[in-house]
Amino acid sequence: MMNNDKIKSASPHVLPSLPYANNALDPVISANTIGFHYGKHHKGYVDNLNKLVAGTEFADLPLEKIITKTAGKADKTAIFNNAAQIWNHTFYWKSMRSKGGGEPPASLKQKMETSFGSVDACKKELATVAMAQFGSGWVWLVLDSNKLKVDKTSNADVPMTTGMKPLLTIDVWEHAYYLDYQNRRADYVSAVLDKLINWDFATENLG
Ligand SMILES: [Fe+2]
Repeated sequence: MMNNDKIKSASPHVLPSLPYANNALDPVISANTIGFHYGKHHKGYVDNLNKLVAGTEFADLPLEKIITKTAGKADKTAIFNNAAQIWNHTFYWKSMRSKGGGEPPASLKQKMETSFGSVDACKKELATVAMAQFGSGWVWLVLDSNKLKVDKTSNADVPMTTGMKPLLTIDVWEHAYYLDYQNRRADYVSAVLDKLINWDFATENLG
């Protein structure tokens, strides 16, 4: 008991479990990629954050609070980057599912038609913006004043700090696709949009 308590207070942030098995997204995203991306990168951000916040004013804060309190502060960049990357990756895993893609639920579809003209136009915008992100980052479907928008962020940045509500995201860091697609980001993004994207998750986030 004592030992467990000690471990808990020294490491407040825990790597969230994947919402599916390592091989559930295969062959679009292989178990090998998930092994590195979840098991090394995502876990690494959790381990780093726990080390960085130990003994600081951030030690007992929930993840979202750490993100909002450190965003844009030059002397807190390392804490922000690791905290935001934990959040981004947890959100990314939920943005996909086995046998995803296809037709979005009616409420999301209607919003896509209002904002982009059609579901295909929304997907095309996500793919275009994913390619427009120079270097590492994220592409997002967001709700901005009741309208859908596609947004991109660099490195660890999140859309919440600019007042937008994220509905889903695609990781466009090379570590997300290099083992399966080498440098072909466009092929990775279009395969995710066609075969894995979790429109149900985006619809839940509308509410
Ligand atoms: Fe990643």
